[in-house]
Amino acid sequence: MSNEAKLELDGKVFTLPTITGSEQERAVDVSSLRANTNFITLDDGYGNTGSCVSKVTFIDGDKGILRYRGIPIEELAEKSSFIETAYLLIYGTLPTRPQLKQFSDTIAEHQFLHEDMKYHFQGFPAGSHPMAILSSMINAASCFDEGLMNWHEGKARFDTYVAKLISQVRTIAAYSHRQSKGLPLMYPKQSLKYTPNFLHMLFSMPYEDLEIKPEVAKALDLIFLLHADHEQNCSTSTVRMVASSQANLYASCSAGVCALWGPLHGGANQAVIEMLEQIHREGDDGSKFILAAKDKTSGKKLMGFGHRVYKNHDPRAKIIKKACDDVLSKLNINDPLLDIAKKLEEAALKDSYFVERKLYPNVDFYSGIIMRAIGIPVEMFTVIFAIGRMPGWIANYKEIMEEPKTRIYRPRQIYTGRTENHYVPLDERK
Ligand code: CMC
Repeated sequence: MSNEAKLELDGKVFTLPTITGSEQERAVDVSSLRANTNFITLDDGYGNTGSCVSKVTFIDGDKGILRYRGIPIEELAEKSSFIETAYLLIYGTLPTRPQLKQFSDTIAEHQFLHEDMKYHFQGFPAGSHPMAILSSMINAASCFDEGLMNWHEGKARFDTYVAKLISQVRTIAAYSHRQSKGLPLMYPKQSLKYTPNFLHMLFSMPYEDLEIKPEVAKALDLIFLLHADHEQNCSTSTVRMVASSQANLYASCSAGVCALWGPLHGGANQAVIEMLEQIHREGDDGSKFILAAKDKTSGKKLMGFGHRVYKNHDPRAKIIKKACDDVLSKLNINDPLLDIAKKLEEAALKDSYFVERKLYPNVDFYSGIIMRAIGIPVEMFTVIFAIGRMPGWIANYKEIMEEPKTRIYRPRQIYTGRTENHYVPLDERK
């Protein structure tokens, strides 16, 4: 197998090195192209561009494979917990028992926000979207930790910042819900584990603690775990982009929250439920909506369908569909939206439009139905995704900072605007 590629430009042949990953993925390394040829590569949407080499997560989209640090997602979903998986992603191996205890203890130790942060929450009007509050407050939290501001100065305390961020994103997320609904803020409880504690902060009242059902906590923990990383997606690439300028961990992850918010990325879980509710309200069984989703002029898409990388199936969607059936039956819930979702999936998987374009349900198609069943308000769905994705963002931040030589991310462009022209005084303009 050749480890060189030849490229002919303007009659001259240039040799470019190729690089092969540990799963035999191959790439042409074009980093010297511009210096040697004055050409750049153009790849709208980065569908063919590897922006980095990474050891964190492997995806084979044609085979429907997802592995965190080499471990299949199916095994982690069955045997691990969100916190253990977070450790695996960030530190590269499964923790030993003492390591896991120390990691969990540090997370528990840092779950309280600085009291002064409460005043920041009060500045947001009721009805604010919790994703806006989440990104602002993660960034604001960096002001309470001076050492964070510079990677080299804060390096020795990095493990504490990691645990703090994983812990506090959950407290901030719960507070953003309470603030947007005008409810009193609930402090975390030292006695509760990560996911039950989040449910407590979301739903308990000062006069009555939430009764936490184990099946609900388990389902939410699974959702966090399934979202924990997904290689170079839009938000993770954003985190790496911001980190490449040597911005601090919290600022980089807060940017990740903003990138996640859009409906084509993490916001799809909210958009799926809104789509299913609309179908239900209009008395459609899904067939009219499928017609609209195929019509490019309708402005509609089948939300929760399709993926840039998966062209066979999304392994997370399989796991979540089963979990959805289990949770709804355990909680004895009959949700008409689940029936609509199943009909839509069945119809789309037989429809040549979706088959030809290799569009399958993604992780967001069923996750919203579980979250609805366990009482999570729809505007919090993307926030749940953000809590889950935090370990992946941190792992990628750590990877980029630990590289001996990282250049600032700075893509090029092909300019198609006006060529040189000159300033016209205001009175002479037509
Ligand atoms: N409904 C209808 N048509 C679709 C859909 C859809 N959900 N997704 C893609 N297509 C069509 C698209 O219009 C295009 O058609 P044509 O070739 O005729 O122009 C073709 O399929 C290829 O799509 P694309 O937009 O070029 O694909 P992409 O890789 O740029 O986008 C995607 C991937 C996930 C943004 C897109 O499939 C989509 O918008 N899906 C709905 C939103 C969604 O569920 N997002 C969550 C993704 S999973 C969670 C995460 O990791 O973020």
